[in-house]
Amino acid sequence: MKAASVNQSPENKVHIAQTEQFVKQSLAGAEAGHDWWHIHRVYNNAKLILASEKADQLVVELAVLLHDIDDSKFNGGDEEIGPQKAGDFLRSIHVEEKIIRHVQEIIRNMSFRSGLGIVNFHSRELEIVQDADRLDAIGAIGIARAFTYGGFKNREIYNPEIPPAMNMRKEEYKNSSSPSINHFYEKLLLLKDQMNTETGRQIALERHSFMELYLGQFKSEWNGER
Ligand code: ADP
Ligand code: NI
Repeated sequence: MKAASVNQSPENKVHIAQTEQFVKQSLAGAEAGHDWWHIHRVYNNAKLILASEKADQLVVELAVLLHDIDDSKFNGGDEEIGPQKAGDFLRSIHVEEKIIRHVQEIIRNMSFRSGLGIVNFHSRELEIVQDADRLDAIGAIGIARAFTYGGFKNREIYNPEIPPAMNMRKEEYKNSSSPSINHFYEKLLLLKDQMNTETGRQIALERHSFMELYLGQFKSEWNGER
């Protein structure tokens, strides 16, 4: 990921490199849907979006790197651990306090689950990080991640007797145990209409079509068709 931060000042580049090291260490042994490679892909997505957006590049890059260091799903639902840990780290390498607070707000507010709750913070940088993360949840990679997550949670691949549950509230979404295919209808196919940036939306449309193609094929095979 050294291609990072081409337009950044030397000091920012050092901060990004230090953060990258910290995140790699923190995520060693992480489950495959949220490992270092997820961060790497989201970082690439963010760069695609940043190419056509006016935004604070340092904030976006640091927030992307730190956005999943302590996912609440794996921490008994505590959604403050991630922002806290990110803040402690950024202070230890002397990043400007204003930047740290912005990065913490982004981490706090960007997940789909926060999207179902009350969102009380807005910035273009948050929107870019959110789009970049969402793009990694759809398309070919999104399919791989959904089944990885389902396997991790011991979910069924598909069960025609359990229909998707639409419009779940935050708690229901967290506690849902429905088959992995349902997740496409409950979340993944909805993401293209939730993109914040034009670049994000365009990429999302392409990845969306690919998921529809995949689901059509899945159903054919499930039904014993060729
Ligand atoms: P993110 O890290 O992108 O904010 P989540 O933490 O909600 O998203 O989920 C991580 C990955 O696991 C995503 O690709 C998501 O689609 C997938 N996932 C989350 N919940 C489920 C589920 N109930 N069934 C299948 N996949 C899921
Ligand atoms: Ni993520």
